[in-house]
Amino acid sequence: MKHHQANIHEVPQGKYQALILKPPRKIVLLVFALLLLTIIPFYYPSLSNSLFLRKTIPNPPSLPSSSSHDIISKEEEAAHEELPSITNNLKCDIFTGEWVPNPEAPYYTNTTCWAIHEHQNCQKYGRPDSEFMKWKWKPDGCELPVFNPAQFLELLRGKSLAFIGDSVARNQMQSMMCLLSRVEYPIDVSYTTDEKYKRWKYTSYNFTMASFWTPHLIKSKEADVHGPTNTGLFGLYLDELDEAWTSEVEEFDYLIISAGHWFFRSLVYHENNNISGCHYCLLENVRDLGMYYGYRKAIRTALKAINSLENYKGITYLRTFAPSHFENGIWNQGGDCVRTKPFRSNETQLEGANLEIYMIQLEEFRTAEKEGRKKGLKYRLLDTTQATLLRPDGHPSRYGHWPHENVTLYNDCVHWCLPGPIDTWSDFLLEMLKMEGMKSAEEKLYSRDRRMH
Ligand SMILES: *[C@@H]1O[C@H](CO)[C@@H](O)[C@H](O)[C@H]1NC(C)=O
Ligand SMILES: *[C@@H]1O[C@H](CO)[C@@H](O)[C@H](O)[C@H]1NC(C)=O
Ligand SMILES: *[C@@H]1O[C@H](CO)[C@@H](O)[C@H](O)[C@H]1NC(C)=O
Ligand SMILES: *[C@@H]1O[C@H](CO)[C@@H](O)[C@H](O)[C@H]1NC(C)=O
Ligand SMILES: *[C@@H]1O[C@H](CO)[C@@H](O)[C@H](O)[C@H]1NC(C)=O
Repeated sequence: MKHHQANIHEVPQGKYQALILKPPRKIVLLVFALLLLTIIPFYYPSLSNSLFLRKTIPNPPSLPSSSSHDIISKEEEAAHEELPSITNNLKCDIFTGEWVPNPEAPYYTNTTCWAIHEHQNCQKYGRPDSEFMKWKWKPDGCELPVFNPAQFLELLRGKSLAFIGDSVARNQMQSMMCLLSRVEYPIDVSYTTDEKYKRWKYTSYNFTMASFWTPHLIKSKEADVHGPTNTGLFGLYLDELDEAWTSEVEEFDYLIISAGHWFFRSLVYHENNNISGCHYCLLENVRDLGMYYGYRKAIRTALKAINSLENYKGITYLRTFAPSHFENGIWNQGGDCVRTKPFRSNETQLEGANLEIYMIQLEEFRTAEKEGRKKGLKYRLLDTTQATLLRPDGHPSRYGHWPHENVTLYNDCVHWCLPGPIDTWSDFLLEMLKMEGMKSAEEKLYSRDRRMH
């Protein structure tokens, strides 16, 4: 450990992205492993504690003016009615842009929304600044409308949406629930009391939202609670499914799948019913293949599982990696995220592990998309990485718990305060749903063209 600590201290002081380290890769990964261990009180009983449930919301903030008039009831109609703006945004990359001030935000608070997870309720724990809630994403070359909950629910009437992933996926679902709470709260229709698998029903819209806890997306088992770094060691079954979600999602109309943070920890890879290698396991006679090997295969297996679901006809969104923002050290060495403003796009860039994970996601997405197209399945990239990278100010830091509380991840620079930057992920999703009609038409043309040539 001495050796590791010496290296950790080489992290350039005051430099953004302290996680992108110069020291040998293994140590970097070890650090990540340590970090990730601790983010892992991933689900808490707070949601079942609906003491704060309110049927009526006092002073609901006004709907964003831009789009409350054009509520759409069918995707087909969307394609026709909204032709100009859709065409515009089809050519515009909504994921490249800057954060601009938005004095209207936020659109909910911890008193109007009960769905905020304890550890992301930054207001409750005394976060003193509020500017981090007051931004919106401005794509280069077009506008991204602020989320309109009534429009979203109308569009998804009679449909179902599932979030598949880790605690950041849950964070995303809760953000969406809070945005939607201006219109309606769902009722709990979960099949189990296990908080890892929640189902919510928006009864007026017959819209179902669900979350499936699967931090590695595939079958995994904690093999050893200690492991080489005393942070646990996970067995990862790279060619086996996590049936807790794969057996349940067939009837869903939309899947939002995401993962990443859990792969930094020590892993033993299993393939063909045999150990094939590992990531920082320090076991004799087991080859260290690094984390990216396992990450790539896990995503591949998960997306293949979706493509082989017999009755699935939905659209699959891959929500790309959301970088963490520790600065001036790692998570347990004084690292923190104390900024109160977003970066401009010229102030930082995607690099190191963030870039690597993102690239793997893009590559595996393309492969799955190609495969899916043969079966008529659609894939979309919910490409949140760039916008998220620019928000070092959006994490709970030390305001995810009381100061005296003994929590392992004291400064949380991984999850996101609510309200906060990831509310924008719903802006992206709604815009993509609105573009869907147009995109489908384009894809039909494309496949017809190909058949003709
Ligand atoms: C909401 O935040 C305020 C501080 O702004 C805090 O006093 C209150 O306890 C929080 N309420 C809930 C329900 O979290
Ligand atoms: C609600 O939606 C489901 C599909 O998600 C559909 O099967 C069912 O018929 C709908 N119910 C009503 C009352 O519209
Ligand atoms: C299992 O893997 C080990 C090396 O990791 C190898 O020696 C052995 O032959 C493999 N067994 C099978 C059944 O593939
Ligand atoms: C980034 O761009 C802004 C506006 O375009 C400019 O004012 C600023 O100096 C630039 N910063 C850096 C570090 O290049
Ligand atoms: C905090 O928790 C850790 C492990 O959960 C324990 O080892 C330590 O003694 C605790 N510290 C205090 C002050 O309670």
